[in-house]
Amino acid sequence: MKKNVLTGLFILCALAMQAQPKLSKDNIDEVLGAMTLEEKATLLVGGGWGSMNAGSMTASATALVPGAAGTTRAVERLGITPSVLADGPAGLRISPTRHNDPATYYCTGFPVGTVMASMWNPSLVQELTTAKGNEVLEYGVDVLLAPGLNLHRNPLCGRNFEYYSEDPLLTGKTAAAYINGVQSNGVGVSVKHYAVNNQEVNRMENDSRVSQRALRELYLKGFEIAVKEAAPWTVMSSYNKLNGEYTQQSYDLLTTILREEWGFDGIVMTDWGTKEGTVKAVKAGNDLMEPGAQVEIDRITAAVKAGEITQEELDRNVRRMLEFIVRTPRFNGYKYSNKPDLQAHAELVRKATPEGLVLLENNGVLPLKNVKTVALYGTGSYDFIAGGTGSGNVNKPYIRNVAEGLTVNGLEVNQSIQTWYEQYIALAKTNLRNNGAGSGILLGDPVISEMEVSRDFIERMEPATDIAIFTLSRNAGEGGDRYALDGDWTITGQERQLIQTLADVYHAAGKKFVVVLNIGGTIETASWKHIPDAILLAWTPGQEGGYAVADVLCGNAYPSGKLPMTFPVNYLDIPSSANFPYNHKESSGSRDFFRGGQRQRKNVDYTEYAEGIYVGYRYFQSAGVPVSYPFGYGKSYTTFEYSKPAVKAAADGFTATITVKNTGAYAGKETIQIYVAAPAAGLEKPAYELKGFAKTKELAPGESQTLTIAVDAYTLASFNEATSAWETAAGTYKVMFGADAADIRATADYKAKKAQSWKANNVLAPAQPINELSLQK
Ligand code: BGC
Repeated sequence: MKKNVLTGLFILCALAMQAQPKLSKDNIDEVLGAMTLEEKATLLVGGGWGSMNAGSMTASATALVPGAAGTTRAVERLGITPSVLADGPAGLRISPTRHNDPATYYCTGFPVGTVMASMWNPSLVQELTTAKGNEVLEYGVDVLLAPGLNLHRNPLCGRNFEYYSEDPLLTGKTAAAYINGVQSNGVGVSVKHYAVNNQEVNRMENDSRVSQRALRELYLKGFEIAVKEAAPWTVMSSYNKLNGEYTQQSYDLLTTILREEWGFDGIVMTDWGTKEGTVKAVKAGNDLMEPGAQVEIDRITAAVKAGEITQEELDRNVRRMLEFIVRTPRFNGYKYSNKPDLQAHAELVRKATPEGLVLLENNGVLPLKNVKTVALYGTGSYDFIAGGTGSGNVNKPYIRNVAEGLTVNGLEVNQSIQTWYEQYIALAKTNLRNNGAGSGILLGDPVISEMEVSRDFIERMEPATDIAIFTLSRNAGEGGDRYALDGDWTITGQERQLIQTLADVYHAAGKKFVVVLNIGGTIETASWKHIPDAILLAWTPGQEGGYAVADVLCGNAYPSGKLPMTFPVNYLDIPSSANFPYNHKESSGSRDFFRGGQRQRKNVDYTEYAEGIYVGYRYFQSAGVPVSYPFGYGKSYTTFEYSKPAVKAAADGFTATITVKNTGAYAGKETIQIYVAAPAAGLEKPAYELKGFAKTKELAPGESQTLTIAVDAYTLASFNEATSAWETAAGTYKVMFGADAADIRATADYKAKKAQSWKANNVLAPAQPINELSLQK
C-alpha cells in the first residue's frame, strides 16, 4: 500500500515536472507551450514603477538594482527570471547609495553622446562603451537604455546632448560602435527613441509629420545602420506619434521596416509610460510595455480572449521575450561583483575625452606656454557641467572642474577669484534649492547664472595673473526644450560684457584670453567669436571634463574633435526653426501642458517637418547660407596636408584613398570626411552629403598615413517616394575629401555605370503631403 502511494506520488511529481519545464535556451517552444494566458500577458508588461526604485523615490527593499528604470517580470514556475533595465546614454544610472548599506554604487560619468560623435572615431567610442557595458554587467543590470540616436533636427531640442549629430551616417556609425562596445560584455542595449522624437515639448503626444523621403533618409537612417551593423538586443519605441500614429503602435515602423526590411531580431519596448492602445502596440510588434502596469496585463488578457489579439501574435511577442531573457546575465546566473573598476574607467575617460573636444579658434595661444597663474572666470570653471539632466544623467562619484584640472597640470589658479566664485556658487545653489529647483528626476542640478564681475575687479586681478580663462556654461535635459533667447541659445549681455572686458584688460596688458564652452548643444558664436584668442568647445564631457579641458589647454593632450552639427549664424537661419516650439512660456516643456482636448496647435500638438531633407549642412551648403562654424569643423594644434586622392570603382560602390601628412609642430589626428555630390538626374538632392569618414592614428610632426574609405552603392542611394525604392543614378559622382563640410581639400570622380535600386515598402506616408522646402531652381 505504502509502496503504491509512493509510486503514485512519484508519477505525479514527474508529470508536474514535465508540465513545468524550466526555461533554457533550448526549450523556448516548450516553455511557451506551458505558459498560461496570464503568464504570457505578464511577460509582455514590465514590473511597474515601484519595482526599481530605492532611496529617494519609492523605497523598495526588494528592488533588484535600486535606481534602475525598469524590470521585466518573472514567472518562477517556469524558471523565467526577471531582468533589469537601466538608463542611460552617458553611463549607467542607478542609485549611488542604498538603505542600510555602507557601500556605494557610483557609475562613471562618460562623455555624453554629442561628445562621442565629435570624436569621429568609432573604435574609440567602442572602447569607451566596452567599459560602460562592464559597469552594466558588474552592477547586475541586463540592458542599458541607450544609445539615444535621434537626429539633431534643431539645436533647441533639450535632449540633443544625449544624441549624436545632424547627419544620419555619423549618427549610425557612432551608435553601432556604441552598441558593439556595450554588448561585447554580454549585456544588451535599447536603441532609442524610435523614431522621429526630435523635441521635448509635448513629447508624449506630439505628432511628427514628415515625408517618407526625409523619414527614410534622415530620421530612420541612423537606426537602420545601427540595427544592421550592431544587432542591438532591444529597441525603445518613442512617446510621440509619427504621421498620426503612436510609434509604439505602428506595425509599419516596428515590424515592416524594423524587422522585415532591416532584419532586427530582438525585442521592442515602449518608452516609459502607460498609453491607451496596449492592444494595438502588441499587434504592432511592441513586445514589452514599460515600466508596466496591471491595466496593460488586463487589456492583453481580455483582448486575447476576445480574439482581438490572435494566439500567433501573442506567441510571437512572448517567444521574443523568452529569447531575450535567455540571453541576459541574470538568467545565466552571472555573479556580479558590484565593484567595476571605476578607477580604470576614469583614466580611460580622461584619456579619450580630448578626442571629442573641438578647438573652434586659436590664434596661437594654445597650447599654453609660459603661463603660471590663471585668472579663472565663469561659474562653470568651478561648477563644471558634466552632462545634461534627466534620465541621461549619471550618479557619478565626482565631477572634475577646470580649476582642479589646471592645478593638476601644474598651474596656479588665482585664489581670490576662486574663493569669490565658490562662495557665490554655494549661495546661489542654496537659493535655487530653497526655491524648489533641482528636485525630481528631470531637473538635476540647477544651472547657476553668471556672477556680476566689474571691470575694476578684473583690472585689480590682472597684474598677478598671466592669462584669463572664462568658462561659459549651459545645461539642458529631458522634459524641456531650450530657448532661443538670451542665456540659452544666445549669450547674455552680462556674458558678452565679461568676454569683452576680459579681452580688453588682458590684451591691454599684452596677455591672452581664452574661452571654454561647457555646453550641451550649439549656441550663438558669430557675434563674439573674434574677441578671445582661443575658443575650446568642451561640450559636457563627463566626470573627467575639467581634467580633460586643462590637459588640452596645457598641451598635455591635444583636441581632435570635429563638429557633428553646424553652428549657424542666427537661430532663425535654420529651416526647422519655422517649425519648432518657440520659447513661449507655455511651451517650456511637456510637463507644462494640459493634455486632452482637441487642440491642433502647431509645434505643440503636431510638428511639420517642412524643411524635408534640408537638415543641417544639407541646407546650409546647398542654399549657400553663411554659418558660424560648418559641420565637420575643428582645428588642431598642428596642420595637415592632403595628397592627391584616388577613387576606384569597387564591386560595390567605390573606395576613396588619400594620404594625410602632419605638417605642423605638434602631434595630432585628422578626420577625413567624404562628401559625395550625385549626378544631376531624377530626384532633387542636397549639394553633397557625408558618405564616409576616417580618422588617422596619432601622427607625429612629419608623419603621414594613407586612409582608404569604402562607400557602397546603397549608401549613395536616395529614397524615391514614387517607386518606394532606394535609387542611385548612373553617371559621375563627385567625391570630395573634406576637412569639414565647407573646406573641401581634394576631389575625384566616381563613374557609376548603371543605375541601381533597392525595393522598400510604401509605408508611413503622412496623411496630407508635406509642403516641403525645395532649393531646385
Ligand atoms: C525617457 C527614456 C528613458 C526612460 C526610463 C523616459 O522618460 O524618455 O529615455 O530611458 O524614461 O528612464
